Amino acid sequence: MSRIVYVNGEYVPEEEAKVSVFDRGFLFADGVYEVTSVLGGKLIDFAGHAARLHRSLGELDMQSPVTDDDLLTVHRTLVEKNGIEDGLVYLQITRGAADRDFAYPEGAAPTIVLFTQSKPGLADSPAAAKGIKVISIPDRRWGRRDIKTVQLLYPSMGKMMAKAAGADDAWMVEDGQVTEGTSNNAYIVKGNTIVTRHLGEEILHGITRAAVLRMAREAQMKVEERAFTVEEAQGADEAFITSASSFVMPVVEIDGAPLGDGTPGPVARRMREIYLDESRAAAV
Ligand code: PDD
Repeated sequence: MSRIVYVNGEYVPEEEAKVSVFDRGFLFADGVYEVTSVLGGKLIDFAGHAARLHRSLGELDMQSPVTDDDLLTVHRTLVEKNGIEDGLVYLQITRGAADRDFAYPEGAAPTIVLFTQSKPGLADSPAAAKGIKVISIPDRRWGRRDIKTVQLLYPSMGKMMAKAAGADDAWMVEDGQVTEGTSNNAYIVKGNTIVTRHLGEEILHGITRAAVLRMAREAQMKVEERAFTVEEAQGADEAFITSASSFVMPVVEIDGAPLGDGTPGPVARRMREIYLDESRAAAV
């Protein structure tokens, strides 16, 4: 069935949606994006995603073509028009179309595109019950991973490396320390302590990460924001990842070494439950 998507102010069937071949998103990956999940027809963590979008745009001297109120309306309208119960809304803003030139063009109108993906039962994924396996790979991305740009080729290569190795995802390693997963933040658990890399330009500042760390502290868990090695992770009690599309997902194996008894740990399971409960209650 054809979806209704949003392109530059209009809601159109996906077959009719068009963006210029001169668009800088296409030519230079000169654009930013957000992924917001939908549970029960409502948006999870919308305010956080909107705030990060502004930050990404600001770092690249780009203007938002829509106000925050409009942004929420467009998200909600697409969810409704496409009958999304569980799934996600993808948003992309690029610098727009202009003659090819490395320097930012003056006066180009930004391109904005939003579309939905339906994922029935998103919160009851079988992967969450089993846990996922990750491999480690070198982090070969650019240096400003705190900006959520659409240059996702290396993360795509990382997913393919994981697949070829019989794993589900890859954790990237730089200077001997884990940065993050290909499309998620990475955590290990030791006793009552959750460890995840500190914020900086080396990782994306996950919206799910911020919520999960707040909820963990509220649940009297200790949180350490610092880097860790693959060896430390392999010796941890548990591990997990977070993202808008996977929420909290247990990790049960790293580079072939099972964690604990090789099944999802109690902290990951509990944090998933808390995150889903609280996020559903606060969804808009
Ligand atoms: N990815 N780190 C990276 C590199 C990511 O691409 C993502 C999100 C995250 C988690 O951020 P958040 O909790 O705000 O979703 C961390 C999205 C889901 C994607 O590219 O599909």
